[in-house]
Amino acid sequence: MSLLEVNNLKVHFHDAAPDRFAVDGVSFSMEEGDVLGLVGESGTGKTVTSMCIGGLLPREKADTEGSITLDGVEIFDCTQKELNRILGKELSIVFQEPMTSFNPVYRIGRQIQESLYVHEKELSADRKKELALDAMRKAGLPEPEKTWRKYPHELSGGMLQRAMIAAAIVTKPKLLLADEITTALDVSMQARILELLRKLNRETKMAILFISHDLHVVNRLCTKVIVMQRGKIVESGNTQEVFANPQHPYTKKLIAAIPSRRSTLRN
Ligand SMILES: Nc1ncnc2c1ncn2[C@@H]1O[C@H](COP(=O)(O)OP(=O)(O)O)[C@@H](O)[C@H]1O
Ligand SMILES: [Mg+2]
Repeated sequence: MSLLEVNNLKVHFHDAAPDRFAVDGVSFSMEEGDVLGLVGESGTGKTVTSMCIGGLLPREKADTEGSITLDGVEIFDCTQKELNRILGKELSIVFQEPMTSFNPVYRIGRQIQESLYVHEKELSADRKKELALDAMRKAGLPEPEKTWRKYPHELSGGMLQRAMIAAAIVTKPKLLLADEITTALDVSMQARILELLRKLNRETKMAILFISHDLHVVNRLCTKVIVMQRGKIVESGNTQEVFANPQHPYTKKLIAAIPSRRSTLRN
């Protein structure tokens, strides 16, 4: 049994044309420790796919077909209560959008330990704080004790992204879903976040589904890659092989469109 199995996933938004599927028959699987990239231009269904995996797609807005199992549990069959138990525990999602980002009125530390209050209620308050500080250290936040007391607006974009990663890993999930998390960051901060993800993957075996429209970044982080176009997977495989020898015209086009840093793709 794979950690994650997505089988013939289809999503149709009620307000879309009858033949327009945001996700149109997507299938893939992930094993423990995998680092898989999901790439494609904006609007190809990457975020909708990730929302389905997290059980976050509003059911009143879209119809879904197919199956998604996480550790053998069918996400589409879960009640809200069961989803709440999985999300933030087995699976954590970090989005680029402010949707899951921090509440401006609470201190960072409190927000990082929040999912321990949901999923690890039995732990003492001290132990929760200890685990949260540990996650902050792992996420590369300097002076965790000091950062703990800060408010979101007091952190830079890169530091906030690290704090979001800390909040995501505090419960030691088996799968981290990262949706465009480096997109808003400058190149050096991007590189540091990639290094951090690599380290977390190496040290904890946490699998990472890394969603990005930036092929350059995916090439540097992911061992396997899936290329999506208009809701469908057009190509997938070992990242190095796909990038060195793309088969599908869309993949070739995406690779050709990578700006100046293109040459480093061959490294
Ligand atoms: N809430 C929504 N209502 C209607 N259509 C949506 C909604 N969210 C996304 N879509 C549509 O689903 C498609 C895929 O979107 P998305 O998964 O966000 O793309 P990506 O993340 O690859 O940029 C797009 O065509 C988008 O218009
Ligand atoms: Mg998206």
